[in-house]
Amino acid sequence: MGLKPATNPEVEAATIELTIDGKTVSAKDGVSLYDVIASTGKIIPAMCYHYTFDPFGSCGMCLVMQEGKKAPVRSCTAKAAAGMIIRTEGDDLFQARKKAVEKHLSVHPLDCPVCDADGHCELQDMAFLHGVTNLPNAKQKFIPEDTRSLVLDFNMNRCIACAECINVCKDVLMIDALQFMKKGGFNQVVAKGDLPLSCEFCGDCLAVCPVGAITNKFSKYLYKPWQMKKTTTTCNYCGDGCQIHVETKDSEVVRVTSPLSWKNKWGDRADTSKGHGGICVKGRFGFEYIDSPVRLKQPLLRKEEQLVEVPWLEAMHAAVDRFAEIRKKHGSDSVAGLITARCTNEELYLFQKLMRAGFRTNNLDSSARYGHMNFVRAAKQALGLGRTPNDWEDLTKAKAVIIIGSNLTETNPLTAVRIKEAIRVYKAQVMVFDSRVTNIGKLASHPYVIMPGTEGLVIDGLVKAAIELDLVDEEAVAAHPQAFTALKAALSNLSLEHIASKTGLAIDSFKEAAAVFAESPRSILLCAEGIVRQPEGYHNVLKLIDLAWITGKLGRPGCGVNTVTEEANEQGAVDMGVAPEFLPGLAAFEDESARDRLAKAWDVTLPAVGTGANLIEILKRCRSGQIRALYVVGENPLATLPASLGVKEALERLDLLVVQEPFLTDTARLAHIVLPASTYAEKDGTFTNLEGRVLRVRQAMDAIGESVPDWHIMTALANGLGCRWEYESANDIQSEIMKLLPGYYNLGQPRKIVPTADRYLSNGYGNAVATRYKTLPSDSRHPFALLMGQLLYHSGKLSTAAPGLIKIAPNTSRIGMNASDMERLGVSDGGTVRLTSDHGTMKVGVQRDHTLAPGTCFFPEHFNDPPVKDLMAVHVDPVTGVPSFKQTRVTIEAA
Ligand code: SF4
Ligand code: SF4
Ligand code: SF4
Ligand code: FES
Repeated sequence: MGLKPATNPEVEAATIELTIDGKTVSAKDGVSLYDVIASTGKIIPAMCYHYTFDPFGSCGMCLVMQEGKKAPVRSCTAKAAAGMIIRTEGDDLFQARKKAVEKHLSVHPLDCPVCDADGHCELQDMAFLHGVTNLPNAKQKFIPEDTRSLVLDFNMNRCIACAECINVCKDVLMIDALQFMKKGGFNQVVAKGDLPLSCEFCGDCLAVCPVGAITNKFSKYLYKPWQMKKTTTTCNYCGDGCQIHVETKDSEVVRVTSPLSWKNKWGDRADTSKGHGGICVKGRFGFEYIDSPVRLKQPLLRKEEQLVEVPWLEAMHAAVDRFAEIRKKHGSDSVAGLITARCTNEELYLFQKLMRAGFRTNNLDSSARYGHMNFVRAAKQALGLGRTPNDWEDLTKAKAVIIIGSNLTETNPLTAVRIKEAIRVYKAQVMVFDSRVTNIGKLASHPYVIMPGTEGLVIDGLVKAAIELDLVDEEAVAAHPQAFTALKAALSNLSLEHIASKTGLAIDSFKEAAAVFAESPRSILLCAEGIVRQPEGYHNVLKLIDLAWITGKLGRPGCGVNTVTEEANEQGAVDMGVAPEFLPGLAAFEDESARDRLAKAWDVTLPAVGTGANLIEILKRCRSGQIRALYVVGENPLATLPASLGVKEALERLDLLVVQEPFLTDTARLAHIVLPASTYAEKDGTFTNLEGRVLRVRQAMDAIGESVPDWHIMTALANGLGCRWEYESANDIQSEIMKLLPGYYNLGQPRKIVPTADRYLSNGYGNAVATRYKTLPSDSRHPFALLMGQLLYHSGKLSTAAPGLIKIAPNTSRIGMNASDMERLGVSDGGTVRLTSDHGTMKVGVQRDHTLAPGTCFFPEHFNDPPVKDLMAVHVDPVTGVPSFKQTRVTIEAA
C-alpha cells in the first residue's frame, strides 16, 4: 500500500510545491507524481496505470525527466516531493517511450484483425502515437489460449504484463483471484494456482486490460468495437444502480461494459469513495435475457383453456372490457394490482395512478413489500425519512461499520466494494454479524458467526452492552430522558448471558462491538435481508435506530442506519407511492393535504381513507372472492411465495388475471390475458438506487417483437377505462412527477440527509419500545435451520432467464450443508436427504457448502425446482404487512 493513504481523511499530508513544465504546482506530499501531473490536465502515456488502484510501474511509458537525475523516471511510482523540477515532454522522452512500446510489441502477436480489442487497444494507440512501424526482431510467444474459465478467455500472447487485471482484483475488489506465473519462459497471468478461474466473475479485469489479452467469452469474435451502438443506462438487477454501457449491434445485445475501463484511467483517487465504475457479474454477463428467444413477442388471450397469440387490439379490448365489467358489477375494490420494483419510476408512478385514478381502488402493492418496506416504515416512523440516510461516500469513509444480516458481496456487490475500500484505504473497523461465513465477514476486522434467526437478539445485545458499559452519548440521551428510561426498562428482562446463549456469541463480543461502534467518529449500521426479510424486521430496524440514538450517531454526519435493496427500483416503488399506505413522495395515504394536491392534479376523487390492501391482503381477498380482477406487472407471486399462502388458489379464483411481462412466468401461465412488456433496455425512464440517487434508464435497442414499455400499456389501459392520459413518452410522465414532487429528480448525488428522531422520541416512544425487546422462543422440534437467500450470480427470478448466469450458477436442485452435518447424517456430496418442516416434506439433493455453520442448510431463492419455498413458515408483520418466509426449522434425514 504505497500511495493511496494520502487520500485517507485521517492522514493529514502536508501541501508541497513542485515545478512541472515550468509551472508551479501544489500537491499533497507523497502522492504519485503521475497523479500530480494528471491533475494539471497534462496526460502523458501510462499503460499500467489506473487511478483506482496503486501504481505498479511495469510498462515504462510514464517517463518524465526530473532535474538532478540523468535517466528518465517512472512518474507513476515516483512520489511527489517539495521542490521537484519535472519536465514531461521532449524528444528524449518521446524516444524513451517509443522504445518501451517497441519492447512490448516485439513479443506481441500482430493478430489485430481477429482481436476483440482491435480499435480499442492502448498498445495500438501507443504504437500509432509513437510511429512504431518496423519491428525487425519481433518474435512470437506461441502460448496456447487459456479457455478454462466460464466467462473469460486468457490469451497471454497479447499480454503486456501491466498487472492491471491482477491489481484491480486484489487491490480494489480484495478478491485476489489472479497472479503472474512464469510459464514457457514468459510471465503469464493465470488464475491463482494455475487452476480454472474461480472467482466472482465481475469482469473488472477484462475492463482494465489495455489490450486484448482477456476476452469476453460471450461476445468474442462477434463484433468490432466501432460496429456497436453504445448506450449508457442503469443496471436492472440490484439496487446499487451501477451505470452500464449496453452495446448493441442491429437488434442484438452484444455485450455490456462498465465505466471502469483502461480508457478511463485518469481521475481523483479520493473520488473512488463514490464508486470505482466497475460492475458485477450480473451487470456484465447477465444481459442475454434481453433478446432471449423465449421473450414474449405478442399478446396472449385465453381461449378454450389455451393461451393463444392475438393482436394487441384484441388483447387490449378484452382487458378493458373485462376490467370495466367486473368494476361495474362488483365495485372498484374488486380490482387490485401488483407490480415489480424493476419497473422505472415513471411506470411505478403511472401504475399507482392507474389503480387510484383509473380503477379507483387503493388495492396495490410492489415487490418492495418483500422486505424493504420494513426498513422504509421504521425509518419513516422514527426519523420521518423513508430511505437510507447515507450514500456510498459515507459508507466508504466510515470508521466503524456494523453489517448485520447481509451477505453484501453477493446481494449488492458494488456496495460491498465501498465497504472494502473503507477497510483497505480508510482503515475502518468492520463488524459482521451473520449466520453464514460470508465473504464480507472474511474481510472484516470483527467477524461474528451467529445462530440463524438471532439477528434481532444480536441488536438487543448491542443496545444492552452500550448501556451497561455506559457507552451512551450524554447529550443524545439527556435530550430525551423519559425515552431513555423507557428503553432501559424495556431491556431489563433481557440479560447479556441469555442473549449470548441464544446467539452463540460471547458476552465480550457484544461489549467489544458496541464499544467500537460507539467510540468511532463516523459509525454506520447496515442491515439487509437477515433483518428486513425476517420476522420482527420492522422492530429490528427500530432497535438499530435505538442503538444509533443512544450512541449519538443519529444526525451526525457520516453516521446512520442503512439498508440495501435487492431489486433495482425498490426505493423508487415506495417513493412513487406504490403501496396502500403511501402516496407519491412517501406521504401517508390519509394525509389530507397530499390527497388534495393529487386529487386536484389528477382531477379525480381518491379512494377513501381506510381502504386498500397490500400484497398479503390482496391474496386473501382474491381467495375470498372479494377481489375479482388482478393486474400483475412483472411480478411472479406464484413462484415466489410459499404454497401455504394459497397464491394458486387466489389466482385461480379470479374472474380476470392480466399479467404484463417480458416472459411467460408461472403466474402468467395462469392468466386470462398476457401482455408482452419490454425490458429496461428497450425503454427510457429512471431508477432510484439504494442511496436515493435518481439514475437514467435509456433505450438501447428497439423493442423485441411486439412488446412495448409498461408505461405505454398502462396508458392505453387507462384511456380504455375512460381516463384522458396524453403521455407520449417517459419524459411526459417525468414532467408530471416533477411538478408533484419538486426536487425528486436529483439526477446526481442524492441530497445529504440529517435525520432527527426528536419527535418520535418525545411522542409515544415509551409505549412503543416496551414490547420491542423480548426473548426468543426455543424451537427444538426441528434441529436444522433452513435458509433461503440470494446468490451473487442471480437476482430474483429474472437472472434465471440469462443463459450466461445459468452457465455460471445453474440450479443444482441441491441444498447446501456443512460437511460435518453431512458426515453425521451419512450423506455424501450429490446424495439425497429428506427435509421435513411443519409445512411439508420433500426429498432433495445435497452438496457441501463451507460457508454454512453446522446446523444450517441453504437453498437459493432464485430456483423453484424443487419447491423448497413451500417448506417455509410464513410470518406476516402485523405493522408493515411484510411476509417473511426465508427461514424455517427442518429435520433432515438421509433418504
Ligand atoms: S472477473 Fe473479477 S473477480 Fe474474477 S479475476 Fe477478474 S477481476 Fe477478479
Ligand atoms: S492480461 Fe491484460 S491487464 Fe492483465 S497483465 Fe496482461 S495486459 Fe495487463
Ligand atoms: S447487479 Fe447491482 S452491483 Fe451488479 S452491476 Fe447491477 S446494479 Fe451493479
Ligand atoms: S504507467 Fe508508469 S510504468 Fe506504466
